[in-house]
Amino acid sequence: MQIPITLIPGDGIGPEVSAAMVAVVDEATDGRIVWDRQLAGATAFEETGELLPLDTVESIVRNRVAIKGPLQTPVGSGWRSINVAIRQELDLYACLRPVQSLPGHSLSRYENVDLVVVRENTEGLYAGREHEVVPGVVEALKIVSRKASERIVRFGFEYARNEGRKKITVAHKTAVMPQSEGLFVDSAVRVADEFPFMQVDFVKFDNVVMDLALDPSSHDVIILGNLDGDLLSDLCAGLVGGLGLVPGANIGETTAVFEAVHGTAPDIAGQGIANPIALILSAEMMLRYVGEHGAADRVRGAVEQVMTEGTVLTGDLGGTATTAEITRALAAAI
Ligand code: NAI
Repeated sequence: MQIPITLIPGDGIGPEVSAAMVAVVDEATDGRIVWDRQLAGATAFEETGELLPLDTVESIVRNRVAIKGPLQTPVGSGWRSINVAIRQELDLYACLRPVQSLPGHSLSRYENVDLVVVRENTEGLYAGREHEVVPGVVEALKIVSRKASERIVRFGFEYARNEGRKKITVAHKTAVMPQSEGLFVDSAVRVADEFPFMQVDFVKFDNVVMDLALDPSSHDVIILGNLDGDLLSDLCAGLVGGLGLVPGANIGETTAVFEAVHGTAPDIAGQGIANPIALILSAEMMLRYVGEHGAADRVRGAVEQVMTEGTVLTGDLGGTATTAEITRALAAAI
C-alpha cells in the first residue's frame, strides 16, 4: 500500500536534511511513501510570491500528513512566522516534542534523559495579535481560551496514559499573569480530574527550567503554553546534545505536520554538513502516526546503531561527517 505524504523541504539546511530523511525513509519503507513535494517559506516566496501557497495548504489537507524542513521567517518589517501560520491555518493545536538521550553521544551532559514537551500551539502570545498603540509603543495580546487549554491538557494526559507515563507537570506563570495563566491552570485542574491515576504537579515555569538544568529526570511529561513550550524545547534539546537530535510533531484532530525543533541554521546552510537526525526522528514519529511501526523501528534502530558506533557523526556531534555520509551510514544500517 502506498502512502501519500506532503513534503516541504523548506529553507536553509531544510533541503539538505529533507533529502537525507527521504533517502532513509525510502529505504525503511521500500519506497512505499509517495512524496507530494510542496513549497513554503522563503523558497516559496522566491518562486511564487507567496510564503504559504494555497497548493501547499491543500496538499496537507488532502494527505492529512506532512513533514517539513525549517522555514525562514524574515526578521522585522512585520513578517509573521510561516510555521505559526501553518499551525493556526490547520489547527494543529498540539506540539509534541519527545526529548530522549541517544546512545553513545559524548557531547551531551546527561544520560538517560527521557522527557516529553507538550506545547499549546495556537494561542498565547504567539497568537500574533500585535499593534502599535501610539508611535513607539507596541502592544501584543496574549490569547488564552478554556477550549484550547482543556484541549491541549487532555491531549497531554491521553498521550501520557497511552505511552505508559506516570507523571505530568503543568508549567505556568500564574503569579505574574493570574488571569491568562490562571485559566490555563484551572482548565488543567478540571481535565486532571478525569485522570485520577496520573500524578500531576503544578509548577512555576521558571522552577521547571531550573529543575531540568539540575536534574532532567525531575519531570516526565510537561504540558505548557505556546511561548514557554517553545523556549523549553530548546533547553531540552540542549540536555541531550543539541538541536540536531530533537524531533517534533504538530498534531490536530485530522492532520499532523512533523518537523524537527531546529531552524534553518543559516550559519551552516549550503555546506552539506547539517545533522539530519532530528528530521529523521521526526519521520520516525510520522511513520508511527500512519501505523508503519516496522519501518519506524528500522529508522530508530539505524539512528541508534550509527550513534552507538560513533564513527560517522556530523560536526555538531563532534564528528567530521557530511550530511551525505551520515545518510549513507543510516541507509546502510537499515
Ligand atoms: P537554528 O535552529 O536555525 O540554529 C541554532 C544553532 O543550531 C545554529 O548554530 C545552527 O547551526 C545549529 N543547528 C540547528 N540545526 C542544526 C542541525 N540540524 N545540524 C547542525 N547544527 C544545527 O535557530 P535560529 O538561528 O534561531 O533560527 C534561524 C532561522 O530558522 C530563523 O529564520 C528562524 O525563524 C527559523 N526557525 C524556523 C523553525 C521552523 O521552521 N520550525 C524553528 C526555529 C527557527
